[in-house]
Amino acid sequence: MQISTNTSLKPYHSFASDEHAKFFTNIINEQDVVAVSNWAKENNTPILIIGSGTNMLFTTNFNGLVAKMEIMGIKKITETASDVILEVGAGENWHHFVMYCVHKGWGGLENLSLIPGTVGASPIQNIGAYGVEVEACINSVTAFDLLNGAFTTLKNEACLFKYRSSLFKQQPNRYIITSIQFQLKKQPILKTDYGVIRDVLHEKNIKNPSLADISNAIIQIRSNKLPDPSKIGNAGSFFKNPTISIDKYNLLKENFPGLIAYPISDIEYKIAAGWLIETCGWKGVKKGNVGCYEKQALVIVSYGIISGKEVYDFSAEIIQTVFEKFDIQLEREVNVY
Ligand code: EPU
Repeated sequence: MQISTNTSLKPYHSFASDEHAKFFTNIINEQDVVAVSNWAKENNTPILIIGSGTNMLFTTNFNGLVAKMEIMGIKKITETASDVILEVGAGENWHHFVMYCVHKGWGGLENLSLIPGTVGASPIQNIGAYGVEVEACINSVTAFDLLNGAFTTLKNEACLFKYRSSLFKQQPNRYIITSIQFQLKKQPILKTDYGVIRDVLHEKNIKNPSLADISNAIIQIRSNKLPDPSKIGNAGSFFKNPTISIDKYNLLKENFPGLIAYPISDIEYKIAAGWLIETCGWKGVKKGNVGCYEKQALVIVSYGIISGKEVYDFSAEIIQTVFEKFDIQLEREVNVY
């Protein structure tokens, strides 16, 4: 394991601001994970694991060891007439892995096409899009437990998956995820309930869609309204969609008939944060090189050289105006350091 000092984090995260890590290293196998753990303990230094840095914001230099996860590999564990179980290294690129499954005809992850990031990051915030969350295909997650100093394999139930959350999100400094076992279906049931997916299929006159058709539709939808982080700095949805009580929902709906929301239980509604932000007039607004994306208000973008602090302050202004107008406290979905 080689450790560099005072390393710029600019190439390692999608907002590409120039904060620095006091120490930096790469993890390419399980031995490196143990070495990172030991080194951090001996030097009494916090560890931050990064994948491809597409869901993070540095507001200041990181005063510890940043370790970039690069454990690779896709291995077939079992295959039956109906299912395939794969073990995938945490450092694999998420979209490449999804494409691999789509090409093999193994279904379950196709709605999560073109999500930026790595496989290892996927369970942390239980990535989700177009009616699918990754938890539906995860059998188990293998990680190094920094608290106990040992590798452990957590079954799906033990990962405590929720909307954009999991055990790993709740205990952010405890686990270094090294691999994940996914269970995929050879005769998949395609999820096309989202209107936009049906619209694209209809437009292309596809009546019996294949896995690849769904994946291509998602790629088209995402490319049309989400900025490519390799071209415009961003971290996807910057905020979570908030949950409010049915009483509050009824009150808001009276005052704002256009409110976009859907029920998630008998007593709660999930509100489209993008709509709240847009209704406050933020969509397309730029301050210096930071802006609210013109096609999707939930995304904060960087148009040039920025500091993470500027992005943070911009997001704080959005939170403030949404709170004043709707009495709803938005929460950031990106990880802020
Ligand atoms: N909307 C607006 N204005 C906007 C943006 C959205 O009015 O500027 C409205 C839309 O018209 C739509 C509703 O809000 O009726 C929901 O919008 P959309 O379908 O675009 O999804 P989202 O709630 O904004 C969530 C995820 C995305 C995921 C999409 C598709 C969160 C925080 N975000 O966005 O995930 O791709 O659904 O399923 O849950 C991410 O996590 O980085 C991400 C991109």
